[in-house]
Amino acid sequence: MKHLIAGLLIAGCGLAGAAQADSHMSNEDLMKAAKARQATMQLYAFNIGTLGAMAKGEIDYDADAAKAAAGNLVKLSSQNQMAYWPAGSAQGEIEGSRALPALWENMEDAAAKGGALVEAAMAAEAADDLEALRAAMGGLGGACGACHKAYRAPN
Ligand code: HEC
Repeated sequence: MKHLIAGLLIAGCGLAGAAQADSHMSNEDLMKAAKARQATMQLYAFNIGTLGAMAKGEIDYDADAAKAAAGNLVKLSSQNQMAYWPAGSAQGEIEGSRALPALWENMEDAAAKGGALVEAAMAAEAADDLEALRAAMGGLGGACGACHKAYRAPN
């Protein structure tokens, strides 16, 4: 019930309701879910990599390419990720995950951090020139970093 209420409060964020996921899943299915979230993270990294390279001047600024990468971040972060984060798939519970158990204990906060990423990605998508993109990068990188600091184990 506690989780249900939390899920209702945070409905609209990608992680909403994840804590209610079936905790009697097979180890194989838990690992599949972890791979799905890691694949999403890899796509985040690819797209933010394009934006970061433009912001730093490592590649030429291209308004269409920047809009595409930022738009991808909006779509990826807006996915309903409920099924990617089943209880029982933290580091130490399955092989190959660096997700800290604290994430499942603070699902509402984790969902808020996911929501902050959606907003930061929308701000980056709205940027119409290099200066605006540069201004948006701090918020974007900060949204990734805030969640990793709290909920991802170091390498
Ligand atoms: C809501 C929290 C959250 C946000 C927001 C978030 N991450 Fe993550 N990220 C995690 C967690 C937790 C893991 C560890 C997942 C696991 O191993 O099960 C992770 C793992 C990763 C990985 C390693 C993936 C792999 O293949 O093992 C990369 C790369 C990554 N994140 C990039 C990003 C980038 C770039 C952003 C921002 C655009 C971002 N993340 C935003 C929580 C988050």
